[in-house]
Amino acid sequence: MVYRIRMIPKETVDRIFDTARIDEVVGEFVALKKRGSSMLGLCPFHNEKTPSFNVSAARGIYKCFGCGKGGNSINFVMEHEHITYPEALRWLAKKYNIEIAEEEQSSEQQAKDNERESLFLVSGFAQKHYTKNLHETEEGKAIGLSYFQERGFRPDIIEKFQLGYSPDTWKNLTDAALTAGYKLPYLVGAGLTIQSEEDKEKYFDRFKGRIIFPVHNPSGRVIAFGGRTLKSDKKIAKYINSPETAIYHKSNVLYGLYFAKKQIIAEDICYLVEGYTDVTSMHQAGIENVVASSGTSLTVEQIRLIRRYTNNITILYDGDPAGIKASFRGIDLILEEGMNVRVLLFPDNDDPDSYSKKVSSDALKQFIQSNTKDFIRFKTELLSAEVGNDPIKKAGLIREIVASIALIPDAITRSVFVKDCSRILDIEEQTLLNELNKFRKTNYNKKQTGEARTKTISPNEDGFVPDLTARAEEKVSLDQQTRTEYQEREIIRLLLSYGSQMLLARGEDETGVEIEIKVSFADFMLNELEQDTATFEHAIYEKIFVEFKRHAENGLVPDLNYFVNFPVHEISQTAIDLVSIPYQLSDWEKHAIYVTTESMELRSAALHASNSLKLRSVELMISEYRKEIRELEEKKEFENMMIVLSKLKGLEDAKKHFSGLLGRVVIR
Ligand code: CTP
Ligand code: MN
Repeated sequence: MVYRIRMIPKETVDRIFDTARIDEVVGEFVALKKRGSSMLGLCPFHNEKTPSFNVSAARGIYKCFGCGKGGNSINFVMEHEHITYPEALRWLAKKYNIEIAEEEQSSEQQAKDNERESLFLVSGFAQKHYTKNLHETEEGKAIGLSYFQERGFRPDIIEKFQLGYSPDTWKNLTDAALTAGYKLPYLVGAGLTIQSEEDKEKYFDRFKGRIIFPVHNPSGRVIAFGGRTLKSDKKIAKYINSPETAIYHKSNVLYGLYFAKKQIIAEDICYLVEGYTDVTSMHQAGIENVVASSGTSLTVEQIRLIRRYTNNITILYDGDPAGIKASFRGIDLILEEGMNVRVLLFPDNDDPDSYSKKVSSDALKQFIQSNTKDFIRFKTELLSAEVGNDPIKKAGLIREIVASIALIPDAITRSVFVKDCSRILDIEEQTLLNELNKFRKTNYNKKQTGEARTKTISPNEDGFVPDLTARAEEKVSLDQQTRTEYQEREIIRLLLSYGSQMLLARGEDETGVEIEIKVSFADFMLNELEQDTATFEHAIYEKIFVEFKRHAENGLVPDLNYFVNFPVHEISQTAIDLVSIPYQLSDWEKHAIYVTTESMELRSAALHASNSLKLRSVELMISEYRKEIRELEEKKEFENMMIVLSKLKGLEDAKKHFSGLLGRVVIR
């Protein structure tokens, strides 16, 4: 295991996890009623009238069957209070009076913290100064304020967004700040003042002669600025923005998020626009769940920022097809994060700002309501209009669209889109599925070479990060991706749910006489899986399996809580989903192989799950051998061919064996 250096010692983190009780934590915000073995209340994360928010004290988790949100105590506090992992730990520590003996900060770290704080302070000062200029100076009123008024900015919006004005002189802000006691290096460090390299005595205001849009972080502190020129000279940049600073990383920031987050949660959707004025105008029209990427192309960090509040993004475009196509990559990123993307096009080069000023607030809401399209559908329609009947272009189009669908992590969502797409394009579903599998295979292989690891271990998860690079040998065929996913999920689900339960298995005593022995479900299942070749295809299930096995082999069967509280988000989420979703997906249940008394039927459940996995592995090998045989035949290497053929024969027998165990009929 590799541990990252962290501020809160591991022992304290463990203590917090052990102490925090989910029903108590949730109970601070939600009225819970006992219902059977769990508790029920109204979900705090989406609007609902009948309660579907479940809390299981025994398992230490919550799950909303309405909106799907789920997690442990830490997740709940993070999600509800919109705070980071370490902040949530502190929150819980405070609630339970657990003292956090913070690991000693180095003096270097302290200096860094002090610098950041200084930048926050000087940025706050600048914002107040710009705002004062706008409202209280002659130049500000005559130029800045009248510009806002002409464009129809309402006074309450100007005030809410703390808009301002920077006069057209060289040192207005810098001198005011110096006089107020702020130090020049911090003004420079915050990007407010530009200092000459050669002559340190020479410096001037970055935003001189512009109206000012302060940029806030999610807790409302000013971290950066955008300044719009009032000149129509094309040679002058329309906007100047703060540079990257110690408190402003452009790719991690969304303009307007601070003002939007409450409403994003309430409506469970976030509108994504391009510019500062789009955000302010939407607010003015009464739509507050809106953020802007502000000139940058959308980043994964920005998407994850939104995901803290909702899974649904609607992108509002000014309908220029070239621009839209350019943003496809960003949208693929959203799909890849497992979020839902929809798209709204504005007519005639209107952007949300200009359109919202042409129509009433109700008309705008109505327009959004009735013109928003699912992204996959949107992309399909947009491209298919271009392609017409050209068969070569059409093939390209299919690949384009299927490439996007292939990024969606959830198999069921994927299949819904494939169906949709097949209808719109009038192409057989199977053709699309074949193409899709190719993409999934390429993506999958790419991830195995390292991308996936950086993705799962995100910088937000400030806990320790176990090293899960060790993985069993893997053989991958993605043609049966969906079926395989169910099988693997089932095995993991059984292991996590029943790992330490005991059951009777057949074994031999020292003299070789067959007897019944008591073993844990985990041992039984691991033994079953190990007897023949069985491999996992899905990285997430394999990670969990490897981790499970590692502990189980040392005699400590990890329980559900272990994975639910696992510090890698992807793993804890999977564990939560596995155990809390009422199980409808299993094809065993469809086939009524076992129905209600699962824990009573553990043995057959284990056998079924492991035999299914083995059967699949055998089938995979068979198809690989067949291919090899064909190749050897072509090359006329008959001797080698015979060897492989004999191996194949063994595998065919194995297939029959497993199929027989599973009650399937093998025809050949
Ligand atoms: N932008 C930028 N630098 C530029 C131009 C644009 O950073 N030189 C960013 C700004 O965040 C801007 C967004 O890209 O808000 C969208 O640009 P644009 O549509 O040109 O500006 P609007 O926001 O529509 O501004 P306005 O309505 O004032 O023209
Ligand atoms: Mn505009």
